[in-house]
Amino acid sequence: MHFLSEVLEKYVADHSEDEPAILKELSRETHLKVLRPRMLSGHFQGRVLSLLTKIVYPKSVLEIGTYTGYSAICIAEGLPENGKIHTIDVNEELVEFQKKYFKKSGFQEKIVSYTGDALDLIPEMDLKFDLVFIDADKPNYSNYFDIIIEKMNPGGIILSDNVLWSGKVIEEHHKNDKSATALIAYNKKLKEDPRVETVLLPIRDGLTISRVL
Ligand SMILES: C[S@@+](CC[C@H](N)C(=O)[O-])C[C@H]1O[C@@H](n2cnc3c(N)ncnc32)[C@H](O)[C@@H]1O
Repeated sequence: MHFLSEVLEKYVADHSEDEPAILKELSRETHLKVLRPRMLSGHFQGRVLSLLTKIVYPKSVLEIGTYTGYSAICIAEGLPENGKIHTIDVNEELVEFQKKYFKKSGFQEKIVSYTGDALDLIPEMDLKFDLVFIDADKPNYSNYFDIIIEKMNPGGIILSDNVLWSGKVIEEHHKNDKSATALIAYNKKLKEDPRVETVLLPIRDGLTISRVL
Protein backbone atom coordinates (compact mmCIF):
# COMPACT_ATOMS: atom_id res chain seq x y z
CA MET A 1 0.00 0.00 0.00
CA HIS A 2 1.22 3.51 -0.85
CA PHE A 3 0.17 6.18 1.64
CA LEU A 4 1.22 8.85 -0.87
CA SER A 5 0.56 8.63 -4.60
CA GLU A 6 3.44 7.06 -6.51
CA VAL A 7 4.07 10.41 -8.18
CA LEU A 8 4.40 12.17 -4.81
CA GLU A 9 6.57 9.33 -3.47
CA LYS A 10 8.90 9.85 -6.42
CA TYR A 11 8.91 13.60 -5.83
CA VAL A 12 9.83 13.02 -2.14
CA ALA A 13 12.68 10.66 -3.09
CA ASP A 14 13.90 12.97 -5.87
CA HIS A 15 14.13 15.85 -3.39
CA SER A 16 16.01 13.84 -0.79
CA GLU A 17 19.63 12.66 -0.80
CA ASP A 18 20.55 10.26 -3.60
CA GLU A 19 20.95 6.55 -2.88
CA PRO A 20 24.67 5.66 -2.66
CA ALA A 21 25.89 3.38 -5.50
CA ILE A 22 26.81 0.55 -3.10
CA LEU A 23 23.26 0.47 -1.71
CA LYS A 24 21.77 0.48 -5.22
CA GLU A 25 23.92 -2.57 -5.94
CA LEU A 26 22.94 -4.28 -2.67
CA SER A 27 19.26 -3.62 -3.40
CA ARG A 28 19.57 -4.99 -6.97
CA GLU A 29 21.30 -8.17 -5.77
CA THR A 30 18.77 -8.64 -2.96
CA HIS A 31 15.92 -8.40 -5.49
CA LEU A 32 17.63 -10.93 -7.76
CA LYS A 33 18.76 -13.49 -5.18
CA VAL A 34 16.95 -13.20 -1.85
CA LEU A 35 13.40 -14.04 -0.82
CA ARG A 36 11.05 -11.21 0.19
CA PRO A 37 13.14 -8.27 -1.08
CA ARG A 38 10.41 -5.82 -0.07
CA MET A 39 11.74 -6.19 3.50
CA LEU A 40 14.74 -4.01 2.62
CA SER A 41 14.44 -0.38 3.81
CA GLY A 42 15.16 1.12 0.38
CA HIS A 43 16.28 4.52 -0.91
CA PHE A 44 14.05 6.99 0.96
CA GLN A 45 13.87 5.26 4.34
CA GLY A 46 17.58 4.48 4.10
CA ARG A 47 18.35 8.19 3.74
CA VAL A 48 16.06 8.92 6.71
CA LEU A 49 17.98 6.37 8.83
CA SER A 50 21.35 7.75 7.77
CA LEU A 51 20.37 11.36 8.55
CA LEU A 52 18.68 10.47 11.86
CA THR A 53 21.85 8.65 12.92
CA LYS A 54 23.89 11.76 12.11
CA ILE A 55 21.49 13.86 14.23
CA VAL A 56 21.47 11.44 17.20
CA TYR A 57 25.28 10.93 16.97
CA PRO A 58 25.15 7.56 18.78
CA LYS A 59 28.20 5.71 20.04
CA SER A 60 26.31 2.46 20.34
CA VAL A 61 23.45 1.24 18.13
CA LEU A 62 21.43 -1.98 18.14
CA GLU A 63 19.57 -3.21 15.06
CA ILE A 64 17.11 -6.09 15.36
CA GLY A 65 16.66 -7.55 11.86
CA THR A 66 19.70 -7.17 9.58
CA TYR A 67 18.27 -8.96 6.50
CA THR A 68 20.75 -8.19 3.66
CA GLY A 69 22.38 -5.31 5.52
CA TYR A 70 20.83 -2.27 3.80
CA SER A 71 19.70 -0.41 6.92
CA ALA A 72 22.82 -1.43 8.89
CA ILE A 73 24.99 0.27 6.25
CA CYS A 74 22.75 3.39 6.25
CA ILE A 75 23.11 3.63 10.03
CA ALA A 76 26.86 2.91 9.92
CA GLU A 77 27.25 5.84 7.47
CA GLY A 78 25.92 8.19 10.14
CA LEU A 79 28.00 6.93 13.08
CA PRO A 80 30.68 9.05 14.72
CA GLU A 81 34.28 7.86 14.45
CA ASN A 82 34.13 5.61 17.52
CA GLY A 83 30.53 4.47 16.95
CA LYS A 84 29.41 0.86 16.41
CA ILE A 85 26.23 -0.80 15.23
CA HIS A 86 25.41 -4.25 16.64
CA THR A 87 23.04 -5.97 14.24
CA ILE A 88 21.20 -9.26 14.77
CA ASP A 89 19.46 -11.63 12.36
CA VAL A 90 18.20 -15.15 12.95
CA ASN A 91 18.64 -16.24 9.33
CA GLU A 92 22.02 -17.96 8.84
CA GLU A 93 21.59 -18.01 5.06
CA LEU A 94 22.05 -14.24 4.92
CA VAL A 95 25.45 -14.15 6.62
CA GLU A 96 27.66 -14.37 3.49
CA PHE A 97 25.59 -11.75 1.68
CA GLN A 98 25.78 -9.37 4.66
CA LYS A 99 29.55 -9.88 5.03
CA LYS A 100 30.17 -9.16 1.35
CA TYR A 101 28.32 -5.84 1.45
CA PHE A 102 29.61 -4.73 4.86
CA LYS A 103 33.11 -5.13 3.41
CA LYS A 104 32.25 -3.40 0.11
CA SER A 105 30.61 -0.49 1.94
CA GLY A 106 33.83 0.34 3.79
CA PHE A 107 31.96 0.31 7.13
CA GLN A 108 32.95 -3.25 8.10
CA GLU A 109 34.84 -2.02 11.19
CA LYS A 110 31.76 -0.25 12.54
CA ILE A 111 29.35 -3.18 12.10
CA VAL A 112 29.23 -6.09 14.56
CA SER A 113 26.97 -8.89 13.27
CA TYR A 114 25.27 -11.56 15.33
CA THR A 115 23.39 -14.58 14.05
CA GLY A 116 20.63 -15.94 16.26
CA ASP A 117 17.34 -15.12 17.88
CA ALA A 118 17.40 -11.52 19.14
CA LEU A 119 15.36 -12.49 22.19
CA ASP A 120 18.17 -14.85 23.27
CA LEU A 121 21.10 -12.66 22.25
CA ILE A 122 20.11 -9.22 23.57
CA PRO A 123 19.91 -10.22 27.28
CA GLU A 124 23.49 -11.54 26.96
CA MET A 125 24.86 -8.24 25.60
CA ASP A 126 26.73 -6.22 28.18
CA LEU A 127 26.05 -2.96 26.32
CA LYS A 128 23.99 0.21 26.58
CA PHE A 129 22.48 1.79 23.48
CA ASP A 130 21.90 5.35 22.23
CA LEU A 131 19.87 4.23 19.22
CA VAL A 132 17.90 1.05 18.51
CA PHE A 133 16.22 0.10 15.22
CA ILE A 134 13.54 -2.58 15.64
CA ASP A 135 12.83 -4.18 12.26
CA ALA A 136 12.31 -7.94 12.79
CA ASP A 137 9.25 -10.17 13.38
CA LYS A 138 6.30 -7.96 14.30
CA PRO A 139 4.71 -10.25 16.96
CA ASN A 140 7.86 -9.78 19.07
CA TYR A 141 8.10 -5.96 18.88
CA SER A 142 6.65 -5.62 22.37
CA ASN A 143 9.10 -8.22 23.74
CA TYR A 144 12.01 -6.43 22.06
CA PHE A 145 10.92 -3.15 23.62
CA ASP A 146 10.74 -4.76 27.08
CA ILE A 147 14.29 -6.11 26.86
CA ILE A 148 15.92 -3.04 25.32
CA ILE A 149 14.30 -0.33 27.42
CA GLU A 150 16.56 -1.34 30.35
CA LYS A 151 19.61 -1.11 28.07
CA MET A 152 18.96 2.39 26.75
CA ASN A 153 21.08 5.39 27.72
CA PRO A 154 19.01 8.40 28.87
CA GLY A 155 17.85 10.40 25.85
CA GLY A 156 18.32 7.33 23.65
CA ILE A 157 16.14 6.81 20.59
CA ILE A 158 14.14 3.70 19.67
CA LEU A 159 12.99 3.47 16.04
CA SER A 160 10.27 0.94 15.24
CA ASP A 161 9.62 0.08 11.59
CA ASN A 162 6.42 -1.01 9.75
CA VAL A 163 4.15 0.21 12.54
CA LEU A 164 1.30 1.00 10.08
CA TRP A 165 1.56 -2.47 8.49
CA SER A 166 0.23 -1.34 5.09
CA GLY A 167 -2.69 0.37 6.85
CA LYS A 168 -3.94 -2.89 8.42
CA VAL A 169 -3.63 -1.37 11.92
CA ILE A 170 -6.90 0.50 11.32
CA GLU A 171 -8.76 -2.25 9.45
CA GLU A 172 -11.61 -4.20 11.04
CA HIS A 173 -10.47 -7.60 9.78
CA HIS A 174 -7.01 -7.70 11.30
CA LYS A 175 -7.80 -10.60 13.67
CA ASN A 176 -6.28 -13.26 11.35
CA ASP A 177 -3.13 -11.22 10.88
CA LYS A 178 -0.91 -11.84 13.92
CA SER A 179 1.45 -9.03 12.92
CA ALA A 180 -1.36 -6.46 12.61
CA THR A 181 -2.79 -7.49 16.00
CA ALA A 182 0.66 -7.29 17.61
CA LEU A 183 1.42 -3.90 16.06
CA ILE A 184 -1.91 -2.42 17.22
CA ALA A 185 -1.01 -3.44 20.80
CA TYR A 186 2.57 -2.24 20.37
CA ASN A 187 1.59 1.20 19.06
CA LYS A 188 -0.77 1.62 22.03
CA LYS A 189 1.94 0.46 24.43
CA LEU A 190 4.46 3.02 23.12
CA LYS A 191 1.91 5.82 23.31
CA GLU A 192 1.06 4.96 26.94
CA ASP A 193 4.50 4.09 28.34
CA PRO A 194 5.65 7.03 30.52
CA ARG A 195 9.32 6.09 30.01
CA VAL A 196 9.27 7.23 26.37
CA GLU A 197 8.12 10.22 24.34
CA THR A 198 6.71 8.87 21.08
CA VAL A 199 5.80 10.19 17.64
CA LEU A 200 4.57 7.88 14.87
CA LEU A 201 5.74 9.17 11.50
CA PRO A 202 3.95 8.09 8.30
CA ILE A 203 7.27 7.37 6.59
CA ARG A 204 7.07 4.44 4.15
CA ASP A 205 5.20 1.70 6.16
CA GLY A 206 5.21 3.77 9.38
CA LEU A 207 8.30 4.56 11.46
CA THR A 208 7.91 5.42 15.13
CA ILE A 209 10.47 7.51 17.00
CA SER A 210 10.49 7.02 20.77
CA ARG A 211 12.84 9.07 22.96
CA VAL A 212 13.78 7.54 26.27
CA LEU A 213 13.20 10.01 29.13
C1 LIG B 1 12.27 -6.53 7.58
S1 LIG B 1 13.69 -7.56 7.60
C2 LIG B 1 14.95 -6.42 8.08
C3 LIG B 1 15.26 -5.43 7.00
C4 LIG B 1 16.50 -4.59 7.25
N1 LIG B 1 16.46 -3.95 8.55
C5 LIG B 1 16.61 -3.53 6.17
O1 LIG B 1 15.99 -2.48 6.32
O2 LIG B 1 17.25 -3.78 5.14
C6 LIG B 1 13.44 -8.54 9.02
C7 LIG B 1 14.56 -9.49 9.39
O3 LIG B 1 14.33 -9.91 10.76
C8 LIG B 1 14.84 -11.21 10.91
N2 LIG B 1 14.25 -11.80 12.12
C9 LIG B 1 13.00 -12.31 12.26
N3 LIG B 1 12.83 -12.79 13.50
C10 LIG B 1 14.00 -12.59 14.16
C11 LIG B 1 14.45 -12.88 15.47
N4 LIG B 1 13.65 -13.47 16.38
N5 LIG B 1 15.71 -12.54 15.82
C12 LIG B 1 16.54 -11.93 14.91
N6 LIG B 1 16.16 -11.64 13.65
C13 LIG B 1 14.91 -11.97 13.28
C14 LIG B 1 14.48 -11.90 9.60
O4 LIG B 1 15.32 -13.02 9.38
C15 LIG B 1 14.64 -10.76 8.57
O5 LIG B 1 15.88 -10.86 7.90
